[in-house]
Amino acid sequence: MTVFLNYSELRQLAQRRLPRGIFQYIDRGTEDEVGLRHNRMSLDAVRIKPRILTGDRPHSQAISLFGETYDAPMIVAPTAFAGLVWHQGEIALAKAASTEGVALCAATDSISSVEEIAAASRGPIWFQLYLWKHYEMTQALLQRAWETGVRTLVVTCDTAVGPNREYNARNGFDMPFRFSASNLCDAAVHPRWVLGVLARYMATGRLPGFANYPAGFESSIFAAGKALPYDRDLSWEHIRRLRDDWKGNLVLKGILRVDDALVAVRMGADGIVVSNHGGRNLDSAVAPIQVLAKVVDAVGGQITVIADSGVRRGSDVLKLLAIGARAVMLGRMPLYGAAVGGMSGASQAIRILRRELDIAMKLSGCRDFRQMDRSLLDMSELLH
Ligand code: FNR
Ligand code: LAC
Repeated sequence: MTVFLNYSELRQLAQRRLPRGIFQYIDRGTEDEVGLRHNRMSLDAVRIKPRILTGDRPHSQAISLFGETYDAPMIVAPTAFAGLVWHQGEIALAKAASTEGVALCAATDSISSVEEIAAASRGPIWFQLYLWKHYEMTQALLQRAWETGVRTLVVTCDTAVGPNREYNARNGFDMPFRFSASNLCDAAVHPRWVLGVLARYMATGRLPGFANYPAGFESSIFAAGKALPYDRDLSWEHIRRLRDDWKGNLVLKGILRVDDALVAVRMGADGIVVSNHGGRNLDSAVAPIQVLAKVVDAVGGQITVIADSGVRRGSDVLKLLAIGARAVMLGRMPLYGAAVGGMSGASQAIRILRRELDIAMKLSGCRDFRQMDRSLLDMSELLH
């Protein structure tokens, strides 16, 4: 498998491997991509004040999250269509995550079903929910997830409408996927993807589609099929209902405000993900690292705070943890890993971040996460 040393090398390899439409769907942000840049600028604005001469004590990245222990404070984030970057890409990601000892959150809009993904993982997986207009269909999906052993449900709360990603309209990555002259050319210049991904689905007689969707709606991404709309009318009432219906851990993803975090606590959520969806939804949204400290302080340890958006280096993970996140979600990085090498590519991506985190911890004099707090950081250049 191709060797890469870091995020940016991996991203370049993925760019070569994937058709342009798919690569841009993963890589880009939305509108003018201010959010994408702002996420990076905000992470870079925080500096570490390393402690020196702390000796070579044993180091550990182990954490526990919702009653499970993991080898590292990282979670493979839910990403729709991951099965398009590699044949059965979600299964590759699940195998990689469980091999590397990190959690994985499967997505509602995955190409492999929650049952298939759970079966590929050694430990229990988490599940991300987009609510459909028909609540009883959502309930049936939750039941399926529960039966596969999912106990942590991540409800995505930051996608009230389809975001304005103009590049998808320009490059043909629209659903249902249409074979236009431009994306046929795109596919033709990426034969490894055509043979390794598309042809393998065709050979099994199962075109990629939405395997979690109820019967009649799981049509392939190439067919117009019957549309199953998301519920665009989401409110705290839905969360109340989900809290009643879901007996496992409930995590709300996409929180960027202290007041919303406090409502989440009141509603009985077990966790939140401070996230701007990787800069993919509201271009002008604040960066999670700008609001994380206030959110962590407001919820005061009552619930588990996770953060994501823009993480590319182990030192980014260290910064978010030192501010008070318990773990960090990774979206694009493992996905690019899967795109260039399936399970081993995704594993390598996770290992690189773990190694970088280890180096950053040792160079900062931190033995484990209990020793990390804001005194380790200079946040004076971070805009609040
Ligand atoms: C996502 N993300 C996402 N989130 C979610 O809740 N449901 C989803 O279906 C998806 N789909 C999705 C697809 C792709 C291609 C990407 C890149 C991202 C957002 C994801 O879970 C996470 O919040 C961000 O990706 C984190 O930012 P980084 O790590 O990609 O910078
Ligand atoms: C995305 C959606 C599916 O980010 O969450 O593409």
